[in-house]
Amino acid sequence: MLALALTTLHAREPKSPLPGPPDEGMWLPLLIGQNHEEMKRMGLELTPEMIYSANQSSLKDAIVWFGGFCTGEIISSEGLILTNHHCGYDAIQSHSTVQNDYLTNGFWAANKEAELPCEGLSVSFLVRMEDVTARFKNEIPADLPEDQRSSKVQQLSAEIVKNATAGTHYRAMVKDMFYGNEYYLFVYEDFTDVRLVGTPPEAVGKFGGDTDNWMWPRHTGDFSLFRVYAGKDGKPAAYSKDNVPHKPKHVLSVSIEGVKPNDFAMVFGFPGRTTRYLVSESIKMAQELTNPARIRLRDTRLKIWKEDMDANPAVRIQYASKYARIANYWKYFIGQNKGLKRLRTVEQKQKLEKEFNAWAAANPERQAKYGSVVDNLKKAVENFRPYALNFVYINEALFAPEILSFALQSQALSQTLPQDKKIARNEEAIAKAVAEFRKAVDEHFKDYYPPTDKKVFAKILKMYYDDIPKDQQPAVFNDVVVKQYKGDFNKFADAVFAKSIFADKAKMEAFLKKPEYSVLAKDPAWSFANACLQHVTTKVRPPYLAYEMEVTKWGRVYTAGLREWQPNKKFYPDANSTIRLTYGKVKDYKPMDAVQYDYITYLDGVMEKEDPSNPEFVVPQRLGELYAKKDYGRYADQTGRLPVCFITDNDITGGNSGSPVIDGKGRLIGLAFDGNWEAMTGDLVFDPELKRTINVDIRYVLFIIDKYAGATHLIKEMNVVGR
Ligand code: ARG
Repeated sequence: MLALALTTLHAREPKSPLPGPPDEGMWLPLLIGQNHEEMKRMGLELTPEMIYSANQSSLKDAIVWFGGFCTGEIISSEGLILTNHHCGYDAIQSHSTVQNDYLTNGFWAANKEAELPCEGLSVSFLVRMEDVTARFKNEIPADLPEDQRSSKVQQLSAEIVKNATAGTHYRAMVKDMFYGNEYYLFVYEDFTDVRLVGTPPEAVGKFGGDTDNWMWPRHTGDFSLFRVYAGKDGKPAAYSKDNVPHKPKHVLSVSIEGVKPNDFAMVFGFPGRTTRYLVSESIKMAQELTNPARIRLRDTRLKIWKEDMDANPAVRIQYASKYARIANYWKYFIGQNKGLKRLRTVEQKQKLEKEFNAWAAANPERQAKYGSVVDNLKKAVENFRPYALNFVYINEALFAPEILSFALQSQALSQTLPQDKKIARNEEAIAKAVAEFRKAVDEHFKDYYPPTDKKVFAKILKMYYDDIPKDQQPAVFNDVVVKQYKGDFNKFADAVFAKSIFADKAKMEAFLKKPEYSVLAKDPAWSFANACLQHVTTKVRPPYLAYEMEVTKWGRVYTAGLREWQPNKKFYPDANSTIRLTYGKVKDYKPMDAVQYDYITYLDGVMEKEDPSNPEFVVPQRLGELYAKKDYGRYADQTGRLPVCFITDNDITGGNSGSPVIDGKGRLIGLAFDGNWEAMTGDLVFDPELKRTINVDIRYVLFIIDKYAGATHLIKEMNVVGR
């Protein structure tokens, strides 16, 4: 739709005579046949069945949904998985200590025995997908009220999932597309024994840090290696020493032939979320209200964390992963707001809406169907706008102190504890809940530094108190902080952190020995968190849910209308963490007037950026030595230089991180890991001239594994072709 907005606005008709979409689009692989002619013209040599097939081995069998938040790909017949460094970051961090600092030094398992199990990490293979829209169309009357509709959708989905998984160990889900105009079933096989195999040091895997994040030109070796294990029977199994490397149905071969402009490139993965069919009013609200709020709240939290991380090496490791996660979307929102302004996205959308309305008005039948849909969507935003800030602050302020979100994790345990001493305790149920909660306790305290969190607590709750309308705040702010602490959030923080069992592991252990409800009820963090949660559930969520329901209901009409308006255009649904394929080409771009960016970066650029005094730009000594000797093995290009990253015009978003970049022959040529600064509006609008995908060149990945780390046993597992 947005390509459409852009073409009408700026006459940015693709210069090529090809019909159909340019390189915009996150396509459902099941339907890739519709794009196949165009893909072939662009350089694809595979058939649709070689990309996606439910019955025979196809590319999709080499793609995994990594941990539910990233993508990975299988690059050896022994289940070796390649993904981004920033996708493996949490696992790498959790294995790191001040003594064994894999973040700083990297890690390479010398053999399979040395690979590190990653508790809680799983990968999923897509078994098959299916269009199940007809069931929904048949069984749900078009005029069913929205709330009844959504329960009917849930019920039907549950039935379909049950049938699809009966007698198997598979997991399935039904996902809606185009706001519920279509429904698809996805069946997955989940593997829960995933082990860390190798990672470069941060100085390679995160080179450029937050300064370079979301930016081109880039010089980051953003990759890490894992392995998926299965039980002896080849089926998924919980971690066990006896598990064996999983034998995948398909393995990507790796091409070191290299890339050049206009080479065909496709990216296969699990994009998380786009909202490209929103109306202008929604974008206006984000630009004016919610994005700035997210930025300033994250800024506050990050500054506090950073100061303590810089002062204390243990805290640096404890907070590394949390910091990176919060910082990533902090910078994202900064970039998005700059982009919205520069690209005048709200105006573009308004123009599109005007044209759509004119089309609808030209015919009475259409007018009846679509004439008021844009207005209805705008009204939904208007109604929600007074509550929008609170909604953002809930996540970014109210529950940002770790102590509060941790306190809420004891919910299941607290419910097993009788509030009244006269009621008998069900010790069995309590013991079970304790065992369950203990996992959260260990995980929490491992990476928790209370003095840091206390600073966040005082500062960010004060921001909540100052910025949110008083009549929308939980009563505890007034009843406790104002009345008992004279509105002094530092004093409140002192009291909470001095007393709460959620701030002190020893106190928590003592509580868990014989948990009593009265201890929780008296705990200042627990009671504050629960009072806030209660408020959120009864007062903050309802207007949000109402808004969501309106957006879904009218979004369904609007997307149907857009498709009717542009019958010759191929439409693709918004990203929703389902598997997608996007195709395009290797392509440079022009970020601003008088500036042209190249499509590829080299190790020379790493050395140019080197700054030993800045942790983000340190170059490992060994890398500097290999550079000095130009010892690149077979990974240099024809100019003798070592490629590091390249860009393509593929259409990706968060969740695609770690996705394979695949050439026309189906071979791995790179690893997608980022988007570019000039197109941070990409999740809202695809701008074909500016939007690029940033990839690590596979030659840099192999060079680091082979020449830098000497992990040649891993290279031997792969099928490296091309030179
Ligand atoms: N922007 C990247 C993405 O969202 C993540 C990069 C992580 N690196 C960092 N410096 N925080 O996929």
